[in-house]
Amino acid sequence: MDTVTAPRGATLSPFLTAAGGTAVLDVRTADVGVQRERRRRRRVATALLGLVLAGLLVMGAAGVDWEAVLANPITVPVLFIGLMGAFLVVYYASSGRSPHTLMRPEQIDIGLADVVGLEPVKEDVVRSLNLFLAHRTFAREMGGTPRRGLLFEGPPGTGKTLMAKAMAREAGVPFLFATATSFQSSYYGATARKIRSYFKELRRVARREGGAIGFIDEFDAIGGTRRGLEMRADGGAHGRSAMGTSDLAGPVVNELLVQMQSIDTPVGAARAAAWARERVNSLLPSHRQLTGRPPERANIMVLASTNRADGLDPALLRPGRFDRRLSFELPDKGGRRALVDHFLRTKAHAPELDEAERRDALAAVTTGYSPVMIEHLLDEALVNALRRGAMTMDWADLEKARLTEEVGLASPVGYTEHEARLIATHESGHATVAWLVAPERRLEVLTMLKRKNALGMLAHGDREDVFTRSRAELRALVEIAFGGMVAEELFFGDVSTGPAGDLSYATTVGAQMVGSAGMAGSLVSFDAVAAGAFSGTNIVGHVLGDADARRRLEELLETAKARVSSLLTQHRHLVEALRDALLERHELVGSEITDVLTTASARYDGSRAATSASDAPAPPLVLDLRDPAAAAVT
Ligand SMILES: Nc1ncnc2c1ncn2[C@@H]1O[C@H](COP(=O)(O)OP(=O)(O)OP(=O)(O)O)[C@@H](O)[C@H]1O
Ligand SMILES: [Mg+2]
Repeated sequence: MDTVTAPRGATLSPFLTAAGGTAVLDVRTADVGVQRERRRRRRVATALLGLVLAGLLVMGAAGVDWEAVLANPITVPVLFIGLMGAFLVVYYASSGRSPHTLMRPEQIDIGLADVVGLEPVKEDVVRSLNLFLAHRTFAREMGGTPRRGLLFEGPPGTGKTLMAKAMAREAGVPFLFATATSFQSSYYGATARKIRSYFKELRRVARREGGAIGFIDEFDAIGGTRRGLEMRADGGAHGRSAMGTSDLAGPVVNELLVQMQSIDTPVGAARAAAWARERVNSLLPSHRQLTGRPPERANIMVLASTNRADGLDPALLRPGRFDRRLSFELPDKGGRRALVDHFLRTKAHAPELDEAERRDALAAVTTGYSPVMIEHLLDEALVNALRRGAMTMDWADLEKARLTEEVGLASPVGYTEHEARLIATHESGHATVAWLVAPERRLEVLTMLKRKNALGMLAHGDREDVFTRSRAELRALVEIAFGGMVAEELFFGDVSTGPAGDLSYATTVGAQMVGSAGMAGSLVSFDAVAAGAFSGTNIVGHVLGDADARRRLEELLETAKARVSSLLTQHRHLVEALRDALLERHELVGSEITDVLTTASARYDGSRAATSASDAPAPPLVLDLRDPAAAAVT
């Protein structure tokens, strides 16, 4: 290949300068478009030539005596054998056929503008697209190699597939969509054959159209680490030997590795020319050999998407293959607001949902939602609207949808009176502790209706997006979990099986504090244990398996419970008020919970102040038991 030396002070062509910008290049004038136009003209010329040849053939066939041919006894067996052969060839070829679906850019109705809330990813995508579109100029002027593989990784529903489609549309080239599982086959070697045919097809289409984008969804199904490589990654310090075991992922990954960097082979007329050159060269002495142009490089880009990039084979991620990893994260508050705006543009909604405050509020309460979850929430709200006979969703529909989404559908259960009281007290205990110890948390729902698998529940969440938690916050979470159990003890003098789930939650959070975050007297992290007796166990297992850590955990839980006991004894009136409200209304949502608590608290403080005010001037009553009149009063 020619080397490119950029002279000092040389300027790049405006076209290439534009490629480094933030807008996608115009496909028609880019290298891809120019190449495609050239190919198109050549195809038209070939088609015209084909027509002329076909005409000549028809004219020639008109002179054949068909009756004599059919009467010949050899015709039928020859036809039969020919058909059988064709059937076998088609059958064999189809078992290794590429499993892709081809989409042309004009069939895709999603552009980059439809992918919302992923600005950093979008910037990188535009840069990669521009290099793809200007690949020839980039190679000629700067000697660069355009990116060949992009890996999209991120949680489900964050727009990876959507982004891939948008890229194909913006690049104006065909899009070969395939899911990794569709490559899998039960026939030996068929998976690798399918991968080969897929890349062959990708190159063929790319040559025809100036470029092509391949997309392999859920890539981890075929790109998993080959056996043995995971040992080398950490220096081979511990050994689970791969010797003598069969490794089915091996050939598939190897095929992918080869295909991502496969040598472009000549096609069509160039292939015939190469064949002829080789024959002639075999007759010529070595200093007289004919040389031809190297085969044209097919301009392909392969996108792969996965939820777990850690499990992919390291060789797949090296430069030249899927070297560019783009992380699709869950949207932050700003991103969620943009998504709400985007989806509400096409979904019928009441005017109140046009208010900026409402939309901000919706973005705030959907912490942890992926874009697809937000879209689904709005669809559920539309269904709620339809159910009440309206054509547009309003805020109440949205709230209802969110409740169903987060805590499940409510199903009434016939509790006995004692059980109803027990459940109401238990849940009120949680809510009271949450209100007292974690004012930064948003109390969402307090219910004694059966939702999901819980007989009753308190749903609470963060007010803002949080990425870390302090020791105080974690301690508050443990205390909230104890609220139910302590309330049961306080009001019934006994505990039920109700708190089992709470204890499990408190143990998990506590174990993280003790064995992972260094928050409970020991700085040792069990997370650092990669193998050995503890391998494959989670942090709770690590902590419970170590006598010292277990003691610390028990201490932490006991302290939390003791604190909750004293809190609830002091604020019994709050639990009672919530319990009564819950027994009456069965479910309290958002501000309804805090309203009950504030009112009860104010009333209690007021009555205490009143009692102490009326009590204050009164002298301490000391009864003289020796006085028979006083004794009678008591
Ligand atoms: N960033 C986004 N902007 C707009 N819509 C989005 C976005 N992300 C997801 N969506 C919506 O969610 C749907 C599903 O997204 P998509 O299929 O791209 O998710 P994904 O990341 O590929 O998920 P998975 O990992 O499960 O395959 C899209 O069809 C689109 O309607
Ligand atoms: Mg997807």
